[in-house]
Amino acid sequence: MSLILKGGKIVTDKKTYESDIKVSGGKIVEIGENLQDESCNIIDVNGSYIIPGGIDTHTHFDLDTGATKTADDFESGTRAAIAGGTTTILDFATQSKGKTLKEALAEWNKKAEDKCYCDYGFHIAITDWNDSICDEMDDMIDEGIPSFKLYMAYKGLLQVDDGVIYKALQKSREIGALIGFHCENGDIICELVNKILKENKISPRYHELTRPEILEVEATSRLMKIAEVARSRVYVVHLSCEEALEEVIKAKKRGVDVIVETCPQYLLLNKELYNLDGFEGAKYVMSPPLRDKSNNDILWNFIAEGIIDTIGTDHCSFNYKNQKELGINDFSKIPNGSPGVEHRISLLYTYGVCTNKITINRMVEVMCTKPAKIFGLYPQKGTIDVGSDADLVVLNPNRVKKIKAIDQVQNVDYTPYEGYEVKCEIERVYLRGVEVSKEGKVTCNSPIGVYLKRSSN
Ligand code: URP
Ligand code: ZN
Ligand code: ZN
Repeated sequence: MSLILKGGKIVTDKKTYESDIKVSGGKIVEIGENLQDESCNIIDVNGSYIIPGGIDTHTHFDLDTGATKTADDFESGTRAAIAGGTTTILDFATQSKGKTLKEALAEWNKKAEDKCYCDYGFHIAITDWNDSICDEMDDMIDEGIPSFKLYMAYKGLLQVDDGVIYKALQKSREIGALIGFHCENGDIICELVNKILKENKISPRYHELTRPEILEVEATSRLMKIAEVARSRVYVVHLSCEEALEEVIKAKKRGVDVIVETCPQYLLLNKELYNLDGFEGAKYVMSPPLRDKSNNDILWNFIAEGIIDTIGTDHCSFNYKNQKELGINDFSKIPNGSPGVEHRISLLYTYGVCTNKITINRMVEVMCTKPAKIFGLYPQKGTIDVGSDADLVVLNPNRVKKIKAIDQVQNVDYTPYEGYEVKCEIERVYLRGVEVSKEGKVTCNSPIGVYLKRSSN
């Protein structure tokens, strides 16, 4: 199917300009003024921006926590992604204890195969390290997976120790891979949780009180030092607060190569939500927890200044009913995570661009171009250029809507952004030239997403 998008304002990480875009064979084949071709379907997008398809490099779809399974699987999660303008996701294929990385990959391939409405790839989360797992990191590169994740928290489940972090970082340097880190001190969190439960304090607000900022700051600082000794590049996922970022800045000054991701929840929400009546605070139980409101604007500034590199969502959805409620008598049993993949672009546009906190070009950079460059997808993805995949989002800035759980495509019974106004409509979304959603509704009736083999940098 060939088409021409006519009259839109093209936005890349570098510039905004008016031009037509011609698409054929799934690729952008021409960009120019007054493009004509009778064989093409002409779409008038006058008055709208055209941005590259969003890339969310931090999702957890079809994740089994042991106690329950995420509300979104690859089908509903990727449908929500395209409805909101995200055309590529990278999910975490998580190694089970005693299993190999190949087994983790096979498991995730099975979960995702023939279910995805957007293009997709995986990072491998390593939870059980030994010499043969180290060797398997090479095999993952061959499978097109040059990125991994290690957890410094979730003791007894996912957490690894400093020796493993050091060895994995050395290996990643050797093979050109990148490791993302969940930075919180899991050992101390475990002590604080046990102590507070003994005092019979069980409500969701204790989630935040047992995961204080300082334990994210400590883990971030420790990671920076381990990376410095290992002389390896690192990626910090879901950074939530100013002080953790100060540790990154100090490390950068010492020459550590560190990339930072934050998420919309740390820009827009704050810890007051844990004081909501009853069990309502459970909706916001995620790790790291929401922080003091003062952090929101500081993080926006760091995005504008180029110190925060990417915005992922950490989409990890659990229904309030029956799933979050597993922790009604014990906050430590509330499954951690919240939904977000559907609303990332409209929230960033509304609360970042429309408020002049960031430019629209910077928005494209942190949500499309940089993720593509960092994770080995550029220039196939993440930009609007001749030869790139025709993953295109028509963003109409002349519409105002309210986010409501009842309208969402995400398969979950709430949204942390209920009632938030957004000053745009994700009017049309194209994945490799195929229209996959229109006005927030999925229009593609089969899962046409493909697995993306990525290269290391
Ligand atoms: O609470 C969160 N973030 N859940 C998802 C797993 C993780 O830590 O990224
Ligand atoms: Zn995490
Ligand atoms: Zn996560």
